[in-house]
Amino acid sequence: MTLQPQTQLVILPERAQDRPAAEALIERAFGPGRFVKVSERVREFADYQPDLSFCAFLGDRLVGVVRQWRVRVGDAPVAFLGPLAVESELRGAGFGIALLERACEAARRAGYVAVVLVGDEPYYARVGFSAAAAAGVELPGPVDRRRVLAKPLDFDAPPLEGPVRPA
Ligand SMILES: CC(C)(COP(=O)(O)OP(=O)(O)OC[C@H]1O[C@@H](n2cnc3c(N)ncnc32)[C@H](O)[C@@H]1OP(=O)(O)O)[C@@H](O)C(=O)NCCC(=O)NCCS
Repeated sequence: MTLQPQTQLVILPERAQDRPAAEALIERAFGPGRFVKVSERVREFADYQPDLSFCAFLGDRLVGVVRQWRVRVGDAPVAFLGPLAVESELRGAGFGIALLERACEAARRAGYVAVVLVGDEPYYARVGFSAAAAAGVELPGPVDRRRVLAKPLDFDAPPLEGPVRPA
């Protein structure tokens, strides 16, 4: 029988019991170097939002995770996204994009005006992120500006402007 992982993928909000498997996947995907990233400085003061964070399952196996955090950019309520990780042998099947779409839609419904992250624009542009939309966003540390990305969720809101700060 041919495995068709995309049809079997189930995406659910992250629950407390998912945490050990989600943390283990993030550790495998990023290693200890992740703690020196500027995103980690943001996560130190941001509010973790379990209802905006999702795990992807094939059967009982957790194979992907995306987390979001509540912050403000200036006065605007913004979701800060990351980490995003998919189990290495299952990459390229669309799971990452599926997790991103789910996370952004949840943030939109919750009233956030944008999602901000630090990552590779060629990948995240597939779901509407751009460095241009994040041009006014200031992060709490040195960062390659080309990797600071935003996806507007409310097109009536003014452009993001100011430091990323606690909500
Ligand atoms: C990045 C990651 C989450 C993507 O998950 P995935 O399930 O493989 O993603 P998808 O299947 O939805 O998309 C895969 C496509 O994106 C492309 N892609 C993946 N990472 C990319 C990157 N950094 N830059 C540009 N394109 C990328 C793949 O080449 C593939 O292209 P194709 O559709 O033309 O074949 C996964 O590779 C991962 O966990 N990596 C390690 C952790 C990481 O780097 N996370 C992101 C931090 S910013």
